[in-house]
Amino acid sequence: MKTLKIITFLIMVAITTTIIISGCKTPQAIIDKSGAQLWGENCARCHNAPSPATYSDDQWGIIMGHMKIKAGLTDMEAKKIATFLKSAN
Ligand code: HEC
Repeated sequence: MKTLKIITFLIMVAITTTIIISGCKTPQAIIDKSGAQLWGENCARCHNAPSPATYSDDQWGIIMGHMKIKAGLTDMEAKKIATFLKSAN
């Protein structure tokens, strides 16, 4: 009887831990995404994702100002995408 209680307790702990860990997973995954990944996921939703080589650093700065609003990106996401585009042109 006592063993059964201990097993039940351990199962409850395991379930709770799993819920807590998986609950924290999504925001962390967004933070960890690279600029290249965000570019691939966001910039091809409405048109073909433009190649980084298409524009200069200055042009990307202006374009990202427009597209941040259009794509509904956070400051962090737009910054990461801009850094990626400017590093790859
Ligand atoms: C919600 C739809 C949408 C998303 C998402 C989107 N764009 Fe656009 N994009 C447009 C539209 C519409 C245009 C047409 C020109 C305009 O309205 O500025 C455009 C035009 C462009 C142009 C042409 C130059 C210009 O400024 O007009 C570039 C380059 C561009 N987008 C880059 C991007 C990048 C980089 C991303 C990802 C951060 C992105 N777009 C995400 C809708 C989108």
